[in-house]
Amino acid sequence: MFFKQAGGSGPGFTSVVRMRRDPLGYPIEVTRQYGNFVKFPVGYGGQPIYLVQDPELLERVFVSDRDKYMKDVMIRRLTGVFGNGILVSDGDTWKKSRRLMAPAFHRRAIESYADSMVRATERSVERLREQPLCAINREMMRLALDIALESLFGSELGNRAEVIGEALDEVLVYVDHQLHSLVPVPRWLPHRARSRYDRANARIRSIVEEIIAERHAADEQRSDLLGMLLAARDEDGSAMDDRQVADEVVTLLLAGHETTALWMTWTLYELGQHPAVQSIARQEVRSVLGDRAPTVADLPELSYMTNVLEESLRLRPPAAITGREAAVDTELGGERIGAGAQIITSMYAMHRDPRFFDHPHVFDPTRWTPELRKSLPRFAFFPFGGGNRRCIGEAFARLEARILLAVLLQNFEFVATADAPPVPHVSITMRPRDDLFMRVREVNG
Ligand code: HEM
Repeated sequence: MFFKQAGGSGPGFTSVVRMRRDPLGYPIEVTRQYGNFVKFPVGYGGQPIYLVQDPELLERVFVSDRDKYMKDVMIRRLTGVFGNGILVSDGDTWKKSRRLMAPAFHRRAIESYADSMVRATERSVERLREQPLCAINREMMRLALDIALESLFGSELGNRAEVIGEALDEVLVYVDHQLHSLVPVPRWLPHRARSRYDRANARIRSIVEEIIAERHAADEQRSDLLGMLLAARDEDGSAMDDRQVADEVVTLLLAGHETTALWMTWTLYELGQHPAVQSIARQEVRSVLGDRAPTVADLPELSYMTNVLEESLRLRPPAAITGREAAVDTELGGERIGAGAQIITSMYAMHRDPRFFDHPHVFDPTRWTPELRKSLPRFAFFPFGGGNRRCIGEAFARLEARILLAVLLQNFEFVATADAPPVPHVSITMRPRDDLFMRVREVNG
């Protein structure tokens, strides 16, 4: 067995604090020192924490023993934001949401958004033309939000889109705060981040509820994501109530736009660091598309560019860490795991593990051969999670990222600035702590 048992020697009493301080580096250090199944001596609220960096054990947590686990305590802190939405719910509520939402996320359904993704990227190209030095993280957030809003609501939002965009920024500040405080701030305690969040959340909810009411009044079925959620029926004919639909809409807005924006941001950053890779990717886009806009049928031809995106997900997974809580007493890797124990795993650490990837810290899209894919254990590369709670938006994100990158490379060269490397900040996602500036140069036909 190539993992160290959780019961053996392990990290010291400060491990939770160190994990919080350095959520990317610390799991790598712990795994190197103590093995890939490690118990922290002090956990949250008296419950132990296990760091699991072993693909076989993760397969048990996420797949074969998944009924024994639920979402972890950190993600449950976000129920104030996501309500009963699919990201944070468990049990029958989650099952029903997933059943009702799945058809809207099938590959075929998703592909109908390709044209609107192209149009949104063209709008971004216009904005980028005006910004030779661009905070690329901000522009990618704007672009991804534009796409998320249009996919959810069609084009009927008007100036409500801006209100939602600003309010979502406030919500993300609050999410960050909730995940970084050692204990959540109780609701009765006056708190600045929360009162701003409360107002922002109320603004988003009231717009979403307003749109749902407009849809009911119009009594026609629309083909955007909201239309599909409203029309979805369970086997017994039941639908989601409006409150549940609103929770799911907020979930999709938050889970869907920042992750993809970060995927694009980190990819452009890596391309700025590796101009030769960028140039090969651009040549491929040119030879497949010339100057025309990409369609779904073109995407399989863009294999080098797709591997660039894959390599970016490996080194800079937008969701860098995830976890579960044992719902019942159970066993894992020979260790007795009590109900309430927290399991943490770092995709970031796993994706940089030399057991699975040669020269793991090197950005090299050519490593993504069919042989590598075949040889990798299921949970050695899992940027979208795995098992029944695998990301429902994966096909959407993959479509979006390929369209965006193709159109951006057709138009621009992305050049690194001389600034120091960006410092990653881990919240529910991994984002650059500060604005990430790049030079954006137009390329001609
Ligand atoms: C690069 C882009 C994305 C990444 C890296 C990503 C990552 C993930 C991961 C790792 C999970 C599973 C978390 C866990 O099991 O603990 C997840 C779940 C989820 N994602 Fe994504 N995601 C991305 C894009 C999207 C998009 C575009 C959408 C929606 C349009 C979306 C919606 C969701 C939802 C609703 C869940 C919860 C699914 C469930 O619990 O049944 N994600 N995502």
